[in-house]
Amino acid sequence: MAKIKTLYFCQNCGAQSVKWIGRCPSCGEWNTYVEEVVQKEDTKVAGSWKPPTAAPTLSKVAKPRPVSEIHYEEEARIATQDGELNRVLGGGIVPGSLVLIGGEPGIGKSTLMLQIAMSLRRLKVLYVSGEESEQQIKMRAERLGDQHPGCYILTETNTQNIFKQIDQLQPNILIIDSIQTLHSGLVESGAGSVSQVRECTAELLKYAKETGVPVMLIGHITKDGSIAGPKILEHMVDTVLQFEGDRHLSYRILRTTKNRFGSTSELGIYEMQGAGLRQVSNPSEILLSQRHGEELSGMAIGATLEGNRPLLVEVQALVTPATYGTPQRSATGFDSKRLQMLLAVLEKRSGLRLGQHDVFLNIAGGLRLDDPALDLAVCAAVVSSLNDIPIRGEVCLAAEVGLSGEIRAVSRLDQRLGEAEKLGFAEMYISQFNARGLDLARYGIRVQPAGRLDEVLSGLFG
Ligand code: TYD
Ligand code: MG
Repeated sequence: MAKIKTLYFCQNCGAQSVKWIGRCPSCGEWNTYVEEVVQKEDTKVAGSWKPPTAAPTLSKVAKPRPVSEIHYEEEARIATQDGELNRVLGGGIVPGSLVLIGGEPGIGKSTLMLQIAMSLRRLKVLYVSGEESEQQIKMRAERLGDQHPGCYILTETNTQNIFKQIDQLQPNILIIDSIQTLHSGLVESGAGSVSQVRECTAELLKYAKETGVPVMLIGHITKDGSIAGPKILEHMVDTVLQFEGDRHLSYRILRTTKNRFGSTSELGIYEMQGAGLRQVSNPSEILLSQRHGEELSGMAIGATLEGNRPLLVEVQALVTPATYGTPQRSATGFDSKRLQMLLAVLEKRSGLRLGQHDVFLNIAGGLRLDDPALDLAVCAAVVSSLNDIPIRGEVCLAAEVGLSGEIRAVSRLDQRLGEAEKLGFAEMYISQFNARGLDLARYGIRVQPAGRLDEVLSGLFG
């Protein structure tokens, strides 16, 4: 009778064990072991002979070489039509690279990938889907408009069959939707299990590295936001992108969390429309577009940087008397600990009575930002709401606030100033330390250097 062999796998790190263990000895996580079928016993030849591993000959062993003697050729990256994707990848798709794109269901991963497949006009693209039928993909392709005759669709989940088709088609780029639906005949457990995900990724990795064809994988994420499957999935691929955004808002953000070929601080912004995703090349304009003619209290504009991109964002605060004993502090898109700290600074250094007030903070547009340069805008918005005095619409702010209420310098102020000027701001509050080696005459914007928080507040609110 066929006996089934099972092993236990850690869902976190992919370590394996012959019996169930409560705590993974490899990564230390609790309760992560799950039983998976690995191999049917009768497919193995009992007591099969294995060749003894040959001692490595000296000529094959890698030898240390001075780094100056190692030559490489700048890889010709494939620049897509999508400027945002090129940016997050560090300048285009690197041949032979494995890119993983994770995101919540329904956020638009399949749409983004199909759109990219359609836009690579000069290349033969194979889009493998294990999630949707050909008809469904065709329907989506029609919504996206222009269709690329060199884009092939394959609905298949078995990796051996996929490789057979790849052999015939010889695509220049491969897209897999999604890695969790694939299964390899070499492993017996079900699709989406740790051993399957690991095996399928390993096969695709080998394919990508041996042929130089870039492979883009779509990955599901778990409810806590990490990519489903073993953590080693993220270690195996070259680049990990996260596609995120509020499903109720139309903006989507493509963020790099790992990149072997570029910076991880890059960010791409899209807008989901009826006919697919539109690139947003000037995000400040849309982030600020909902400002009304009248000036409202509790609103301040901060000049921040996301990756290398300057961005002007609207910081909104609402300060109301607390109805219950403990005042509430709530922040959306901003670190709430940092908000607590800034409120404490305002209370102690500027003598504001915030202890009896609820404070709500929101970064408009659904962005999540952690740039310390937003500190001053946050403080200004809070004070503006507390006193119910609006800040003039032509003013923006960029500085970090220290614990003693001092205004600290921020990085790359010239870029922030340039962006603010481009968007028509007339005045910018910065740190006096930033103002030092800066040629202020170069900018058509009035710079207000400040050393202490009080100076900024009296400048803004008189
Ligand atoms: P989809 O790419 O299927 O998401 P995922 O693969 O991440 O699960 O995107 C689904 C959402 O996108 C769906 O709610 C409808 C919306 N959508 C548009 O608004 N416009 C479009 O042109 C397309 C194709 C989808
Ligand atoms: Mg999908």
